[in-house]
Amino acid sequence: MTDHVSVQTKDVATLRVWDPLVRMFHWGLVAAFATAWLTADEVQPVHEFAGYTVAGLVAFRLICGFAGSRYARFAQFVKGPGATLAYLGSMLRGRERRYLGHNPAGAAMIVALMLTLSGTAFTGWLMAEPDLVALLPALPQIVAPAWADDDGDEYGEGREVEGALEEIHETLANLMLMLAALHVAGVVLASVRHRENLARAMITGEKRAAEPGDIA
Ligand code: HEM
Ligand code: HEM
Repeated sequence: MTDHVSVQTKDVATLRVWDPLVRMFHWGLVAAFATAWLTADEVQPVHEFAGYTVAGLVAFRLICGFAGSRYARFAQFVKGPGATLAYLGSMLRGRERRYLGHNPAGAAMIVALMLTLSGTAFTGWLMAEPDLVALLPALPQIVAPAWADDDGDEYGEGREVEGALEEIHETLANLMLMLAALHVAGVVLASVRHRENLARAMITGEKRAAEPGDIA
């Protein structure tokens, strides 16, 4: 399916790069994240439902990352720090090559987005289900004293953990907003540089077929 090349009107050969699952994942994630963001501290049941939807979508994407179609697989696009830095350097010089799948910078961003989303959803879950906190492994000794309550009463300690969780949850959510803005800026930049509408490609699944110099 991924190697199917079709000739469209205007004689531009295109290739199906993003399979339907990746596209549904992407726009579902955008909708769920936006909903979680907009309902935070406003409509708690909707916030939690949207947050769990984000977590479910990320879990689903992890499976596709190992068992999905060619360009959905992490092994196809996740690169080490060396290759990622080299790509960023070529971007600065305006000489980055066109990738049919995710480019190394986009791939690093995807890893950052998925990790931050997981952390946000996980801390939210812990806040919503305080009993779960007790099941976590004991905190390292360096952290524990800072959290210990003066009079050692359990209620006080619980409150402090809850406060710390809320702090982490909010910080991760704010970090997500920054990453998402950077992600969209990267999409716009790559679209301009390679003269193709990448947002549209994430809807149709189709991209211009590889040309000489491109990396398929
Ligand atoms: C409306 C704004 C957005 C647009 C136009 C957009 C567009 C895109 C495009 C074009 C790609 C493919 C990049 C490539 O060609 O390599 C992509 C990938 C991705 N985007 Fe976005 N994005 C948006 C918002 C978001 C947000 C808010 C998130 C996170 C909550 C997000 C998470 C991701 C992820 C995880 C991928 C990897 C897709 C995959 O391989 O499964 N995006 N996005
Ligand atoms: C991954 C997507 C999520 C995002 C972007 C997100 C974002 C936020 C933000 C920005 C706040 C801070 C609101 C404020 O105090 O100004 C917040 C609070 C909170 N979130 Fe989330 N959240 C997510 C997932 C979840 C999940 C999955 C749950 C639980 C099931 C959850 C539970 C909570 C709770 C309990 C609060 C504290 C509300 C309060 O009492 O002030 N969140 N979230």
